[in-house]
Amino acid sequence: MNLYISGSNRKGNCYQIAQDLKSENDTVIALAEKNIKYCKGCSACTKGLEQYCAIKDDMKEIYNNMAEAGNIIIITPIYMNHITGILKNVIDRWNPYSSHPELLKDKKIYIITVGQMSEEENEEIAKNIKEYFESLGEFIEFKVEFLKNLSSGDIDDVIKNHDNYNEMINEIKKRIK
Ligand SMILES: Cc1cc2nc3c(=O)[nH]c(=O)nc-3n(C[C@H](O)[C@H](O)[C@H](O)COP(=O)(O)O)c2cc1C
Repeated sequence: MNLYISGSNRKGNCYQIAQDLKSENDTVIALAEKNIKYCKGCSACTKGLEQYCAIKDDMKEIYNNMAEAGNIIIITPIYMNHITGILKNVIDRWNPYSSHPELLKDKKIYIITVGQMSEEENEEIAKNIKEYFESLGEFIEFKVEFLKNLSSGDIDDVIKNHDNYNEMINEIKKRIK
């Protein structure tokens, strides 16, 4: 099973891309639909008091899905030259993995960024996001592969702006092993 996480606050372009990439047995999570609280820095996870996070909210479902998944594909809109706040919030809640590297070890995190500006204009931003995930992978032990920096153009319709959309989806599918 592959897990697709749409990092948008709405079910828009990233969610659509996840739906188009997924196979029958894969899972798609739209963070827009989840109740995820902020990390409180209580350190219960790093003190070994909890395997996962002490806060009880929808992260439990995400931890379970991440445990079951072979690959985790994160599709994030670019917001203010970075990932969305809601996605950053989820990543802060990955702190338990720093004490339990076995939970994510050998899993691969694939990244797709989607911004309104052109792919060329967002090239440096996408590179920074890739490096950000790689830096996380160093201390919570997962592998990272950057799949695509995509321009949505019109904020509401990524598909309309890509003549070769289906081709691109098929290319990406082939790269998710
Ligand atoms: C608050 C906000 C900030 C944004 N910042 C950027 C940005 O810095 N660069 C960019 O290319 N697009 C930016 N966008 C556009 C979105 O990245 C783009 O529309 C994306 O396709 C949205 O994905 P979604 O449809 O899955 O929500 C921003 C949109 C919003 C709402």
